[in-house]
Amino acid sequence: AKPVSRAALAGEADPRLVALSVSIQDDGALYAEDIRGSQAHVTMLAAQGIVPKAVARRIVAALDQVRAEFAAGKVRFDPALEDVHTHVERRLGELVGKDAGYLHAGRSRNDQVALDERLFIVAACDRCDAALERLQRAFLSQARAHEATILPGYTHLQRAQPVSLAHHLLAYVEMFGRDRERFAEVRRRAAISPLGSGALAGTTLKLDREAVAARLGLAGVTRNSLDAVSDRDSAIELSFACALAAVHLSRIGEELVLWTTKEFGFMTLDDAFATGSSLMPQKKNPDVGELARGRAGRALGDLVALLSIVKNLPLSYNRDLQEDKRPLLGGPDALVLTADAVAGAVETATFHADRMEEALGSGEALATDAAEYLVERGVPFREAHEAVGKAAAFATAQGRPMAKLTAPEWKGFHPRFEKDVLRVFDARKSLARRDLPGAPGPRQVRRELARWEKALGKR
Ligand code: ARG
Repeated sequence: AKPVSRAALAGEADPRLVALSVSIQDDGALYAEDIRGSQAHVTMLAAQGIVPKAVARRIVAALDQVRAEFAAGKVRFDPALEDVHTHVERRLGELVGKDAGYLHAGRSRNDQVALDERLFIVAACDRCDAALERLQRAFLSQARAHEATILPGYTHLQRAQPVSLAHHLLAYVEMFGRDRERFAEVRRRAAISPLGSGALAGTTLKLDREAVAARLGLAGVTRNSLDAVSDRDSAIELSFACALAAVHLSRIGEELVLWTTKEFGFMTLDDAFATGSSLMPQKKNPDVGELARGRAGRALGDLVALLSIVKNLPLSYNRDLQEDKRPLLGGPDALVLTADAVAGAVETATFHADRMEEALGSGEALATDAAEYLVERGVPFREAHEAVGKAAAFATAQGRPMAKLTAPEWKGFHPRFEKDVLRVFDARKSLARRDLPGAPGPRQVRRELARWEKALGKR
């Protein structure tokens, strides 16, 4: 049998392989996590008597310096060194000499990179959560300011029934609330340590896995070494949480675009959150909403990339997994940027209550109320629906708003209509009667505003 080639280890690999293998340009971003993990690992090795205590102390101190050098952009990337792990270790060797070789006992880059990613994911969840909270506050403050503003709620982008602007904005607060719950779940599952899993089959050394986990602020250790080095579920879950939050941002982005058109005229962006055209002097563009939509496309791509990388991998570690860096590492920051810009745009926007009220029209949005009027008087809903449908068609044919139909005319469409049906055509009164939990009526909305203000607390 031919001996195993050591070419790659000796740095004699073909440049074409090196070019394909190098990942420092992506995983260099994980230097802080990598160094934290190494410091916890070597401290434990010393406590276990595997490494001399003085050596461990020097390694920890030197790693602090390596971290500072990375932070200052002073570390020269060398393609032959492949990834962040070897870059850190090489620099450590330059600083402490041969003793640097003690660090990697009982560890492989396979459990090392799994740890780095978990540390990254935990911190990323916190950043995303904070950004989503800022976003919720922006929506909540506008909702509070617009308790009494009414507009048509839409289905199929057609005017449907009256809601308050507060209720509409609180819908987004709900969405971002679910997103935050998701990030908390992702964080909880990510916050366990794979160190001690080795390349795939652990180690013969007497490591203290729990101590490393505790030092890193993680809640426990992984339970299967094969799974631990090949599992990227937390990366995928983080990516999914980012993608779904980005999709929510994309939905508000779409509404920003629509609502700022002359055709809708429901809102105006503050100048600081709008852009002009390089050609057309009259333009004020809602780029923030468009970018929110566009960014979501990237987030979806990242998620699909991660799922595709893991699909079909046999246990345990496979080099394919290195390809997870680019889709994983950029997502959370992109979400934070988008969330902050949208929060700013919403916070500073002006909503036009007059245009919203105008869009309510005179009565069409209350056709359902007229049907419910009959239901309350014992008429089966389908029969009521049909009677009001005829009234609506009649009003349209006559070119009159529904609210202007007379009591006798209503009577003609159904005998149970009385004079007081005319009172139905008041959007505010209609809204006030929508008072079940979750409804857009003012009492329920006030309750929700108070609930969210309490949940988010003072700032
Ligand atoms: N850069 C590698 C990655 O991200 C680290 C693990 C390398 N392991 C190996 N056996 N080559 O996956």
